[in-house]
Amino acid sequence: MKKIIVANQKGGVGKTTTVVNLAASLALLGKKVLALDLDPQSNLTSSLGFDKRKVSPNIYHLLMNEVQPEEAIKPTSIPNLKLIPASPHLAGARIELVGFKDRETRLKEKLATLSGYDYIFIDPPPALGVLTLNGLVAAETVIIPVSVSYYALEGLSELLNAIRLVKRKLNPSLSLEGVLMTMYDLRVKLSSEIYLEVKNHFKEKVYQAVIPNNVKLAEAPSFGKPAILYDKSGKGTISYFRLAKEMLGISDQL
Ligand SMILES: Nc1ncnc2c1ncn2[C@@H]1O[C@H](COP(=O)(O)OP(=O)(O)OP(=O)(O)O)[C@@H](O)[C@H]1O
Ligand SMILES: [Mg+2]
Repeated sequence: MKKIIVANQKGGVGKTTTVVNLAASLALLGKKVLALDLDPQSNLTSSLGFDKRKVSPNIYHLLMNEVQPEEAIKPTSIPNLKLIPASPHLAGARIELVGFKDRETRLKEKLATLSGYDYIFIDPPPALGVLTLNGLVAAETVIIPVSVSYYALEGLSELLNAIRLVKRKLNPSLSLEGVLMTMYDLRVKLSSEIYLEVKNHFKEKVYQAVIPNNVKLAEAPSFGKPAILYDKSGKGTISYFRLAKEMLGISDQL
């Protein structure tokens, strides 16, 4: 079982889209996958077809010690893919957790009781607060999505510092899983410039699979489905499938 957090405190870089579509691709490749929504915006929860205002029990109840992990796990439209949903209530947990001694390790403790999954993906909010901290402590590795924009690299050193700090103080085995380029546009010169800069810094940690700017990836959440069930042979779908195969070490010679 591998626990991976898809983290970047920068908003809108494709964290949730990556969790949904990478998790769905791995599930369709036969892996048992659990996706965990750790964001009060609850976009992962709605992207997988749940009503974030009604879904209960959820990650909030789990973090507050009100339920066991199994009770918060929901099935999705993909048999091998399960979800621990979030709701906007989770915003309150940020404040409530502060009062607890184990405030940074609570998610880790909860996930430690789970078994039977090949992958657990954690989708944190766009901030380096107590929720993301719980995710970084619970995870074994980090995927950093970098979206192609003029400001793409801004904040990356802050994120790497936070990861190093967590590694030093709370989770010594935390490591970098990979760096994923998202919203890549071949027609835009900036895309290749950013790619080279990221590659220069992270070397072989940058995935060969690159996620293109693709409108179907942005539309799929409004249907409550991963893109693979909405736009089966689309470019966005294929790019996430390729990423899943790259993670599994399956060659993609199609
Ligand atoms: N490759 C892509 N091409 C086009 N649109 C995309 C792509 N990836 C994500 N999007 C869209 O961009 C927006 C931000 O993506 P997403 O929600 O995945 O980012 P995020 O990092 O999780 O955001 P937040 O920080 O708010 O949680 C969404 O509307 C999403 O549908
Ligand atoms: Mg998100």
